[in-house]
Amino acid sequence: MDIDSITGAAYIVAALLFILSLAGLSKHETAKSGLTFGIVGMAVALVATIVGVIDVSEFLDNRALVIILMLAAVGVGGAIGLWRAKIVEMTGMPELIAMLHSFVGLAAVAIGWNGHVLGSHESMDSLVNIHEAEVAIGIFIGAVTFTGSIVANLKLSARMNSAPLMLPGKNFINVGSLVLFAILTGVYVSMDTYDNTSADILLGVITLLALALGWHLVASIGGGDMPVVVSMLNSYSGWAAAASGFLLNNDLLIVTGALVGSSGAYLSYIMCKAMNRSFISVIAGGFGIAAPAGDDKDYGEHREIQADAVAELLSNASSVVITPGYGMAVAQAQYPVADLTAKLRAKGIDVRFGIHPVAGRLPGHMNVLLAEAKVPYDIVLEMDEINDDFPETDVVLVIGANDTVNPAASEDPTSPIAGMPVLEVWNAKDVIVFKRSMAAGYAGVQNPLFFRENSQMLFGDAKDRVEDIVRALG
Ligand code: TAP
Repeated sequence: MDIDSITGAAYIVAALLFILSLAGLSKHETAKSGLTFGIVGMAVALVATIVGVIDVSEFLDNRALVIILMLAAVGVGGAIGLWRAKIVEMTGMPELIAMLHSFVGLAAVAIGWNGHVLGSHESMDSLVNIHEAEVAIGIFIGAVTFTGSIVANLKLSARMNSAPLMLPGKNFINVGSLVLFAILTGVYVSMDTYDNTSADILLGVITLLALALGWHLVASIGGGDMPVVVSMLNSYSGWAAAASGFLLNNDLLIVTGALVGSSGAYLSYIMCKAMNRSFISVIAGGFGIAAPAGDDKDYGEHREIQADAVAELLSNASSVVITPGYGMAVAQAQYPVADLTAKLRAKGIDVRFGIHPVAGRLPGHMNVLLAEAKVPYDIVLEMDEINDDFPETDVVLVIGANDTVNPAASEDPTSPIAGMPVLEVWNAKDVIVFKRSMAAGYAGVQNPLFFRENSQMLFGDAKDRVEDIVRALG
């Protein structure tokens, strides 16, 4: 068997491992094996690529230099990757991912320019045109991903103001840039691009246009929407890699790029659906920025409760559901919450968690925190799995959640979050809401739950209050 067939077979194995990896990552229980499949798949792909390059370099005069450069790139890249992964905090993960996407974008731009400089090997005009279109599209997606990811990284790490950049006519700028790109690509494809200065300049303009668009697109979106943006950039980086795969004639890169591109797009779709927003409205920005921090409606008085009374209520309950939200992450209350859960379960009380798909600020935010604090997976349920059980629940502890438990979403068609699926906690016998004030949540809308007859507010930092309850339980 020749080396070509071996690398081809290795690429198929790697592609299958990547698919298994994605399947594994979709569930808590299989997430670790999913990661292992991904690591093994990438190792197989890397070794196959290195062996392939060593094989074809046989005919090169500077073979040794090519091999040394390639191994040095793998070594340096691997070392930096290991170092960053070791030091990153769980909370710094989104910004690290944004930075990694920027590398994919930059690589796609470099590969595109390489394709332009080398020209097409094809003799048929139509195939040459396809090559040129691949070059322009690859560079465009890569450059948008590159600068967009840099801005996302800067916003997430608070090195850039997270408020949206509001240039006049920002949607016009975005759509206009796309139209301009389509026109310039048409011109590029129709000209003789090999060794032609005008084509070099035109491609330079396309690159600059895409770099500026990527920057503007993400700068115009508020910090709170960054999770959707990061998953969108994840999708772009996949399509950029797929475009590079076409240019390099590398099937594995095409398959992997398509997997990343489609899974990123699907994740963005899931997040938007769970927030009841269209993808376009996220890109166009606006939500959660100008929304009112309350309204004039009179909801009546709220009632307060203290930690020892909550402990008493819990001791007499037979079923408890905890619905955590962004405030649990802010307070880092997951450890006392895990202690509380263990204590109540030891008393024979049925304790479960209800997780809203966009609770917190990242996909899976609550699941990661609860897993970190060693809360058993089997009592952590999705919104759809637990919503019907609230009428039979004695006590619900709403720990730092607000929009995700807002009845207005299902009851008030005029609410800005109308139609957003929510955890129907108000159907339980007693609801305890942990927060520091009566302030609104991310969407900036008032929450009628706080004024319901079966709701009581436990004010203060969620971590301190949960610790108080754990102490009171003895
Ligand atoms: P929010 O609606 O943002 O409410 C969080 C609540 O936590 C606030 O009401 C806040 O009230 C309270 N809080 C903050 N710090 C606290 C502390 N130290 N101790 C106790 N309470 C504290 O959170 P949610 O219910 O998780 O909803 C998430 C929101 O983010 C949704 O609107 C969603 O659309 C949006 N979003 C989510 C994502 C993803 S992927 N998860 C992405 C983009 C946007 P006080 O200030 O009064 O304490």
